[in-house]
Amino acid sequence: MVVRHQGPSLVIHTPAKLNLFLDVLGKRPDGYHSLETVMVSVGLYDSLVFREIESNQTRLNCHRCESRPTFEKQTLPTLPAGPDNLVLRAADLLRKQTGCDQGVEITLVKRIPMQAGMGGGSSDAAATLVGLNQFWGCDLTSEKLHMLAAELGSDVNFFLESPIAAVCRGRGEVIEPVRLSRRFHAVVACPSSGLSTANVFRAWASERQRHASVTSFVSQMQRGTLSQHDIHNALERPARELNGDVARTLDSLRRIANGPVGMSGSGTSCFVLCRTAREAGVIAGRLSFDRSLRVFPVSSRV
Ligand code: C5P
Repeated sequence: MVVRHQGPSLVIHTPAKLNLFLDVLGKRPDGYHSLETVMVSVGLYDSLVFREIESNQTRLNCHRCESRPTFEKQTLPTLPAGPDNLVLRAADLLRKQTGCDQGVEITLVKRIPMQAGMGGGSSDAAATLVGLNQFWGCDLTSEKLHMLAAELGSDVNFFLESPIAAVCRGRGEVIEPVRLSRRFHAVVACPSSGLSTANVFRAWASERQRHASVTSFVSQMQRGTLSQHDIHNALERPARELNGDVARTLDSLRRIANGPVGMSGSGTSCFVLCRTAREAGVIAGRLSFDRSLRVFPVSSRV
């Protein structure tokens, strides 16, 4: 997350994530699922601008920045600007916690595909907590912000912590940062249709599971020797069953690239790992002829 002061405004650029590994260990009594997942934050950003306004309200403006303008005419998931938007929920939670009654206008520039398993909404929520904590001078500790983050969603703590990569456990909110000695490169391909995380978890069937070792995944990742065999996402099967675009996107990636291919989070975005940024650029160029996909060459931070 990059935080900058621009005159009287505060600007935050907040990244997307990819789950390179995701195992579901079982269903919990509270209805959530226990996870073991490896998340990497990647250089595709939403931006939030915080500006003071006279009233004591929170006003949200949303702008969508589609990498493929033709997609705007298709049935993309809608971007809610009402109380369901995680930005407004995060702002409300912070107000309740601190009693702050200052007004703010938040402008959200959305580049991270929605309902795509890239954590865009969670990343925006984390940026709102960090941004308003500074903007309103609330001085909440990182521990307190983490408690609020966990109330907002399972991935929000990852973005608040802002590690380059991490193993996330619990329902996703328990973060153990992982060191990467080299930059990681990938091409992300995302169809126009999305998937609801809740529906994908609901369709997950425990009896079909093969459990994989996160420890061995992390050591291969740190050595830079990940192969197709290591890539595992227990939500891929239910996501494929719910939305045919997932299988089509994975097939397109396999046709065009040789590297390991997988799906991120609960889909629908899929990725192929690349050895270099240059290779990612070449593969992204080839894939961009597929008009049904949004394509992003991405790298991790170092
Ligand atoms: O936590 P978050 O609001 O992002 O999750 C969205 C939905 O996905 C939850 O309401 C739940 O149905 C499902 N989920 C789950 N187990 C997790 C994370 C999410 O069942 N670990």
